[in-house]
Amino acid sequence: MHQVFEGNGFVICNFVPRKVDYHPLSIPVPYYHSNVDSDEVMFYCGGDYEARKGSGIGQGSVSLHPGGHTHGPQPGAYERSIGAGFFDELAVMVDTFRPLDLAEGGLATDDGRYAWSWSGRGPQGDLA
Ligand SMILES: [Fe+2]
Repeated sequence: MHQVFEGNGFVICNFVPRKVDYHPLSIPVPYYHSNVDSDEVMFYCGGDYEARKGSGIGQGSVSLHPGGHTHGPQPGAYERSIGAGFFDELAVMVDTFRPLDLAEGGLATDDGRYAWSWSGRGPQGDLA
């Protein structure tokens, strides 16, 4: 439902402000998943990305989920989303069907903490 373009070896998806559900006990944040066929790059360009609240993701952030890396909402996001009817988020996602390499710019901007954002601990094992 998010895919807007498809090319040779990639797709582009948009996450835009939208009605997400009607039931008062619905859980509208996405489920955990692991893309075995693609790397996933997201650019968070506006709004409030509910599922990643607490991860360090904010407007202007870029995340990379390499193929096989299980990812999903932050701890507590499922509970906070129960009954939510609207998400005010704006992000663009590119899924590539061949692995991406990180260039100097990507390596230089890695905060070193993102991969640990689901664990409740930092990269050194300390509490984040
Ligand atoms: Fe994903």
